[in-house]
Amino acid sequence: MHQQYARFHNLSPSQKLICTFVLMTLGMGYMFAMILIWESHAGLDSKPGVSVKDIMIAYRGDAATRLELALRGPMADRIDEGDRAKIIHWIEEGGQEGAYTSTVKPILEERCNFCHNESNPHIPNLTNYDAVKSVAVKSTGVSIGTLVRVSHIHLFGLTFIFTLTGIIFSLTYVKRWMKRILITTPFLAIYLDVGSWWITKVSEPFAYVVIIGGALMGVSFAAQWFISMRHMWLYKPKEDMSSEFF
Ligand code: HEC
Repeated sequence: MHQQYARFHNLSPSQKLICTFVLMTLGMGYMFAMILIWESHAGLDSKPGVSVKDIMIAYRGDAATRLELALRGPMADRIDEGDRAKIIHWIEEGGQEGAYTSTVKPILEERCNFCHNESNPHIPNLTNYDAVKSVAVKSTGVSIGTLVRVSHIHLFGLTFIFTLTGIIFSLTYVKRWMKRILITTPFLAIYLDVGSWWITKVSEPFAYVVIIGGALMGVSFAAQWFISMRHMWLYKPKEDMSSEFF
C-alpha cells in the first residue's frame, strides 16, 4: 500500500519557523566556516587565494618553516615586503644568532612583540633567539594530534548539520531519487573530506579529494537549503501529485 510521508504542508507555521531559523543559522555558520578555511589556507604557497598547493602544504607540510608560513599567510599584513624578505633570508641562511640580533630582532620588536611576548601563552613567544628559532624550523604540516581533534569535531558537527538539513529537506516535493541523492551525498562527502585529510599527509594528490569532498558538501548543503526554503514558503503542491514525489 502507498504510504503518505510528511511534507511541508503537514507542518504548522511554528514548525516551519523552526525549520527556517535552523536553516538560516546553519547557513550563517557555513559562511563563517568558509571564511575560516580561507583564512587558514590562503597564501600558504605565497600566492594569494586558496589552491590545491595550499591544501598540500597545510596537511603534508612544506619546505617552509612555521615562521615563514605565518609571514606569508595569517601574519602577512603585519609586515612589509622588505622586512619579510629579510626574515625569510635569515631562515634560509640557517637562522644564525648573530644575524638574528642584528637584523631579525629589531623587526620583530617593532612589528610582532606587541602580541608575541611571554605574557600570551597561546601564541609563539618571539622575544628571544631560542623561541624564534623554534618556529624557524621546517613545517611538517598539521600534527596528528590536531588532525584527531579536527576530525572528531567535524564528524560530530557535520553529522548534526546534515541530519537537520536532511530532515527538513525530506519534507520538500522533489522527486524521490533526487531527494535520496542529495541526502546521501553530504555524508559521503564527509568521509571523503575527513579521510583525505589523513591520506594527504602521506600522499599529496589526495589534496584534490579534500577539495572534491568539500565542494560536494557545499553543493549539497546549498541545494538542500534553497530547495527547502522555496518549497516551505513559496511552493504550492499540486493536488494530484504523483506518488514519485512522496
Ligand atoms: C595583533 C597581534 C599580533 C601581531 C602584531 C602579530 N601576531 Fe602573529 N599571531 C597572533 C595570533 C593571535 C596568532 C595565533 C592565531 C593565528 O595563527 O592566526 C599568531 C600566530 C603566529 C604564529 C604561529 C602560527 C602557527 O604556526 O600556529 C607565528 C609564527 C606568528 N604569529 C608570527 C608573527 C610575526 C613574525 C609577526 C610580526 C611580523 C606577528 N606574528 C605579528 C597575533 C599577532
